[in-house]
Amino acid sequence: MTASSPERPRPRQLHLNAFLKPPGEFLAAWRHPATVADAGVNIRHVIELARTAERAKFDAVFFADLVGVPFADQEVLSRVSVVNDSFEPTTLIAALATATSRIGLIATASTTYNEPYHLARTFASLDHLSGGRAGWNVVTSLNDAEAQNFGLERHLDHELRYERAAEFFDVVTGLWDSFDDDAFLRDQKTGIYFDEARLHRLDHRGKHFAVTGPLNIPRPPQGRPVIVQAGSSDAGRALAASVADVVFTHHPDLAGAQAYYADLKARTQAAGRNPDEVVVLPGLSTVVGRTISEAEDKLERLTALLDPRVALADLAYWLGGVDLTAHPLDGPLPDLPPSNQSRSAQRHIVERARAGGLTIRQLARQLARDTRTIVGTPESIADHIQEWFEGRGADGFNVVFPYLPDTLDDFATLVIPELRRRGLFRTEYTGRTLRENLGLSRLPSRWSALQARSLR
Ligand SMILES: Cc1cc2nc3c(=O)[nH]c(=O)nc-3n(C[C@H](O)[C@H](O)[C@H](O)COP(=O)(O)O)c2cc1C
Repeated sequence: MTASSPERPRPRQLHLNAFLKPPGEFLAAWRHPATVADAGVNIRHVIELARTAERAKFDAVFFADLVGVPFADQEVLSRVSVVNDSFEPTTLIAALATATSRIGLIATASTTYNEPYHLARTFASLDHLSGGRAGWNVVTSLNDAEAQNFGLERHLDHELRYERAAEFFDVVTGLWDSFDDDAFLRDQKTGIYFDEARLHRLDHRGKHFAVTGPLNIPRPPQGRPVIVQAGSSDAGRALAASVADVVFTHHPDLAGAQAYYADLKARTQAAGRNPDEVVVLPGLSTVVGRTISEAEDKLERLTALLDPRVALADLAYWLGGVDLTAHPLDGPLPDLPPSNQSRSAQRHIVERARAGGLTIRQLARQLARDTRTIVGTPESIADHIQEWFEGRGADGFNVVFPYLPDTLDDFATLVIPELRRRGLFRTEYTGRTLRENLGLSRLPSRWSALQARSLR
């Protein structure tokens, strides 16, 4: 481009995150003959999954987390795998950092049941040891079972935990900025290890935290590891608009996704940020076949493996931990108290039940099968992706895999080539860091931003 030619806007890039939950998102995935029995704690298997995602040029792999076991009923619990049998995700992505070289590595960590110094240190370390590929999914946690592992009877109230999350985040980012990017001289001749003028002690005193600092590790290579947020309630959106680089969300239809997308971009702008700097990724679960009926058969075989007791317990869980046992299975969903877990999940499920006139039994089965699962051919799935992307319902997708490795392999070998044929998805990584691959800027330290302002 010549100096005089106007800057052409960069074409929008589709982004794909691989949400890995070995042996698969579907609760009965572990019973599928194609899955690996100990998938959740089999590092060789998880490395293979991450490498498959890397070969396909996914932006990142993501591992979710709960800090407790959600189902109290032992009989139900004894029939599910993921919640009992998975690696802690920050430890896991540290291992994956050494087994991959380009793909981003995102892990969940809770602001409700951690201290900011610990997490600032963990994610700074992860960003260094992965060469700038780390991401943190900032969650406020979900349920009472988690609270009960941290000296509390009940999970913190929704508003309070988002308030804590905002302060937690402020402390963590302040700690990451303890040292300026170029603070470490490590000069053997002069004996100066770091330039003391480039050290900033945080001295935070707030409602929830008192943290002096500094952090005992240099500023992360990305400045900040990529920040992911997945709350869709009003408080969740407000947090996302002010801090998130990537937003995971969930919408059953394009109109809902477009409304959310427009709202989040507007809130991001109102928060003084560039709306292009937040990447909106709705969930997308796929089962691919050479024909639609082949794909339908695959999903039917998978759904048949689910124990109805597990389906019902899962429904009760997502409705906010309610007791459904007192209500007839073939009757309608009763009126429910507001959830202190996921308000958006409860709202989506209740809306689905009312719209379809579903009984509790039908709803549990539908939820298990999940209307988010697109069953189709590579072309029909690519059509869906293209429609949502071009219709501004999504900047890409958080791709969920019903059972692993098959649905990841199918997506990588059948859907991604079709997206490439349409010019929608990369053929190579263009950046070294996750931020670069997501098309996001590296943020300056809060101190250099302050300094720049005071010099003006
Ligand atoms: C794709 C996705 C992944 C999530 N991963 C986690 C997780 O790993 N741990 C967790 O506690 N919550 C997780 N959540 C829940 C959200 O962080 C959030 O708590 C939930 O959506 C409720 O927020 P809301 O009440 O603001 O809607 C996830 C949500 C979505 C959509």
